Amino acid sequence: MYQHQLHQQINQCVKDKDFPEGDAGILFHTRFIANGAAIKALYDEIYGSHPKAAESFGRLLSIITRGFIDRPDAMKDGDDEKLDQGHWFLSNSITGMSLYVDRFCGTLTDMESKLDYLRRLGVNLLHLMPVFESPPNESDGGYAVSDYRSVDLRFGTLEDLRRLRQHMSDRNMFLMLDIVVNHTSHHHEWARKAKQGIEGFQDYYYMYGNRDLPDRFERGMPEIFPESSPGNFTYCKEINKWVMTVFHNYQWDLNYTNPAVLLEMLDTIFFYGNLGVDILRIDAPAFIWKQLGTTCQNLPQAHTLLRLIKQCVQVAMPGMAILGEAIVAPKEIMKYFGTGLFTARECDLAYGATHMALQWDALATGDTRVMLAAQHEILQKPYGTTWITYTRCHDDIGLGYDDYMIQHAGFDPFQHRKFLMEYYSGVYAASPAAGALFSVNPKTNDARISGSLASLCGLEKALLSEDPAAIDRATGRIIMMQAHSFLIGGIPMIFYGDEAGYTNDYSYLDDPGKSYDNRWMHRPVIDWERNKRIDDEGSIEGRVYKSTRRLIAIRNKLPMIADAKNLTWLTPHNIHVAGYLRTLEDRRVYCLFNFSDQQQSLTWQVFKEHGAISERLLDHWSQQEYSLGANYESMVLAPYQFIILEPQPTS
Ligand code: GLC
Repeated sequence: MYQHQLHQQINQCVKDKDFPEGDAGILFHTRFIANGAAIKALYDEIYGSHPKAAESFGRLLSIITRGFIDRPDAMKDGDDEKLDQGHWFLSNSITGMSLYVDRFCGTLTDMESKLDYLRRLGVNLLHLMPVFESPPNESDGGYAVSDYRSVDLRFGTLEDLRRLRQHMSDRNMFLMLDIVVNHTSHHHEWARKAKQGIEGFQDYYYMYGNRDLPDRFERGMPEIFPESSPGNFTYCKEINKWVMTVFHNYQWDLNYTNPAVLLEMLDTIFFYGNLGVDILRIDAPAFIWKQLGTTCQNLPQAHTLLRLIKQCVQVAMPGMAILGEAIVAPKEIMKYFGTGLFTARECDLAYGATHMALQWDALATGDTRVMLAAQHEILQKPYGTTWITYTRCHDDIGLGYDDYMIQHAGFDPFQHRKFLMEYYSGVYAASPAAGALFSVNPKTNDARISGSLASLCGLEKALLSEDPAAIDRATGRIIMMQAHSFLIGGIPMIFYGDEAGYTNDYSYLDDPGKSYDNRWMHRPVIDWERNKRIDDEGSIEGRVYKSTRRLIAIRNKLPMIADAKNLTWLTPHNIHVAGYLRTLEDRRVYCLFNFSDQQQSLTWQVFKEHGAISERLLDHWSQQEYSLGANYESMVLAPYQFIILEPQPTS
């Protein structure tokens, strides 16, 4: 719809003296006009009645234009290529790794020499955990940012980051970085100015002169770190005010009712985009809008802000995809892909946190029913969006799926979660797992789980007991868990160290900046001497590495693994086995996983459930060929075995 005033404003923007001539400029102008009305409507929903609404909107349009003008030509070309491909991030040939530069190898410059290690494994997307300035002992792993535009000295400089990006481009690698939108460090310039009482800066945060409003807010707000940082407000003695701090007490929540905050963030988003970011991870978006009387999570305005950001990014740098890090209830996660008119127009990607936790549920119980009970909701994800699939990341594992999913399998939700917590924290004696409870909340009996993939799968205890059979079982679990998440659709994100079977690293206990947070136990320091063992196939490192690499290679060659909303759950008639069918045109692949420590049988019926298929099936994992027999014949899966079966053409 033509909106005279708005379109005049947009036309004015492209008259900027630096605006590029030629096709790129024309395309930008077209996108701007096409998305302009949506941008205006979303903006007005939040800021329409703000006294500075009009002035700030004008600035927003200039920021979008500047973001595009500053975009290097090679990135503009990259945008066009991605647009031509359409939904480039759904591909089956992208695999990521998430890592802390300092713990992985040292600095951004050192990282250059590790790119070949990643490429050899098959990783072509690098998620650098936060590298921007953050106070050493109050850093939350870099998620307490004190300067969004300076690289922290311990990693190097902005120039080093740019050079690394160039080396990555030379190897056809994608880059993912975080933007921490919900809060800043209390050492950020805005917070420092707020502490000095400089006009305007206290409006960047939520600050109150007494406990009245904080107490009222607290009634609805859950605590995120009840052990290390209880409550949601922190007293600031410099100004004698209570500041909202939902995460740690040194992370001050930003106030998005102030349009200046949104504009600052948008400008920073474009700055990151122009460093060459392909996937922008928006940290903790569920928290960005606060409203008295609510939990201050997942509010509609948070979605409006994300949609607004997405529309602006689509105009200025359409090749950059948006990942929403919303680790919330299953139904709520889904909303970050957009709803109604904005379906598939909010975040392009979200973490498959529900499925991740459910895989751990199935592994502990050897029973896949709770995992399956959740799938009808997970399958609601709209076409054109996808998951980051993962087994472990830098954060804890939360058992936040719904009670009814647990009840569906016949378990009591409270007892079931208690069992899982005891199983993974090592309280339950028969458990092979070595992890710990994170953020125990005695008021709600809630807790999450820390621990590395290998330790939670039993490798740490198995190595201690020097029991070869237990070591085999543990490596079997590790690979099966990875396979399940690599093949389900979405971009697999490996957490560094997991490719070589790293167990928990307890050195964090000696560091006062980390010892209060046991998530550091699963954020290892890589020992490159030890990593040389990846070439020794007899070593644990070699076994895990080789299997991980093979899984990536298999994924890359099977186009039906791309996420085209092409997944159907199978009915294996065996609660210990989960399986899904992935299809693309006339190609299919049946992926089946035995989550139990016992041998399990399947009837061939499972392969006939979705229409007749060829009698010959090849398991891409073992390279073994199977022939489809009569229904009563069964197929046997060893403990933790999985198969990736593709029907073969009949000769
Ligand atoms: C995200 C990060 C987590 C951090 C939190 C606060 O959830 O993944 O590590 O503690 O945000 O920034």
